[in-house]
Amino acid sequence: MQEKITALRTQCIAEIRQCASTAQLQDVKVRYLGKSGQITALLKGMKDVAPEDRPKIGSMVNTLRNELEELLEKKTVEISEQEMKRKLQSERVDVSLKSLDEPLGTLHPITLVTQQIEEILVPLGFKVLEGPEIETDYYSFQALNIPADHPARDMQDTFYITDSILLRPHTSPMQARYMEKHQPPIKIVCPGKVFRSDSDASHSPVFNQIEGLVVDKHLTLCDLKGTLEYVAQNLFNKDTKVRFRPSYFPFTEPSVEVDLSCSNCGGKGCSLCKGTGWIEVLGAGMVNPFVLENCGIDSSKYNGYAFGMGIERIAMIKYGIPDIRLFYENDQRFLKQFKK
Ligand code: PHE
Repeated sequence: MQEKITALRTQCIAEIRQCASTAQLQDVKVRYLGKSGQITALLKGMKDVAPEDRPKIGSMVNTLRNELEELLEKKTVEISEQEMKRKLQSERVDVSLKSLDEPLGTLHPITLVTQQIEEILVPLGFKVLEGPEIETDYYSFQALNIPADHPARDMQDTFYITDSILLRPHTSPMQARYMEKHQPPIKIVCPGKVFRSDSDASHSPVFNQIEGLVVDKHLTLCDLKGTLEYVAQNLFNKDTKVRFRPSYFPFTEPSVEVDLSCSNCGGKGCSLCKGTGWIEVLGAGMVNPFVLENCGIDSSKYNGYAFGMGIERIAMIKYGIPDIRLFYENDQRFLKQFKK
C-alpha cells in the first residue's frame, strides 16, 4: 500500500509538471482528486487496510492529498499568469500605428479672410448679415441712386435673369435693404458672393465682397478713414497706412478710392505694388443723402459712410496669390497651405 501511494505521488507530480494549460491541470485534478479519482479511491479502499495500519496509511494519503492540492494550486496560478501574458502579447494594440481617420480639411482662404475682417469689425459694434445673391434691379441700382438710364450701370457688367431680376454685381444692395427696415444708429457688415461678366487673372465672374455701412449723426470722412485704417492695420500690420483718392460712386458723395501702403515692401515700391508703394483695395464714401432718403432715413438728421471691398483682392495681397482663378480650382496643393 505504501509503495502504491509513493508511486501515485511520483506519477501525479510528474503529470502536474507537464501541464501547459489550466484545462490540462483541471483534467489531472479530476483524475486524481475527483470523485472517482485515484487518491479518492485510495481513501475509499481504507476499509481493506488492516486496522492497525489504518492511521498510518490514512495520514499518508491525507498528506499526499494536501500536497497535491497545494501543487495543483501553485501550478494553476503559474499557468494562468502565463496564459494572461500570452493573451496580452497576442492581443496587443499598437497605439503608434497611423490612424485610419479621414484627414481634416481646411478653411478656404476666402472664408479665412472674411472671418478675419468680421472678427476685426464685430468688436467695434458691427453686426454681420448676409443678403440674397439673386437681387432685384431696384435694390442693386435704383435705391442706390442709379436710375435706369444712368451711365454708372456700365460700371458693372451685370448678369440679368429678367429685366428686373439679376445676379447682384456688388454687396451694396444690402445697404438699402437694411436701411429700409432699421433706423440709425446702423453699423453692419455684409459679406457674400457677387457676379460680373468679367474674367481674367485678376477678375472672376463670381467673386466675394464685404460691404460696410455706418449711419449715425455727425459722421465724417475721418470716421471712415479711422475705421479702414484700423481694419487694415489688424489685417496686415500695424504700420499699414491708408490713402484716399477722389472717386465716383452714385451711392456715395463724396466717394473715394482707398489705397493701402504695400504690405510687401512697406511702401518702398516692389513688383506687388508696381513700384508705387500703394495698393488699391476698395471703394468707399459718405452715403449719398439721396440713398438715405430712398430708404426712409431723414438725411437732415443723419449721415453715414460705406465701404465695399473685394475679399479675393485682399487675400491675394495678404498671401501673395498671383492669380484669382486659384481660389476656385480647389487644388488641394493650394488649399492645404492655409492650414492653421
Ligand atoms: N459697391 C462698390 C463696388 O462694388 C463699392 C462701394 C461700396 C463703394 C460702398 C462705395 C461704398 O465697386
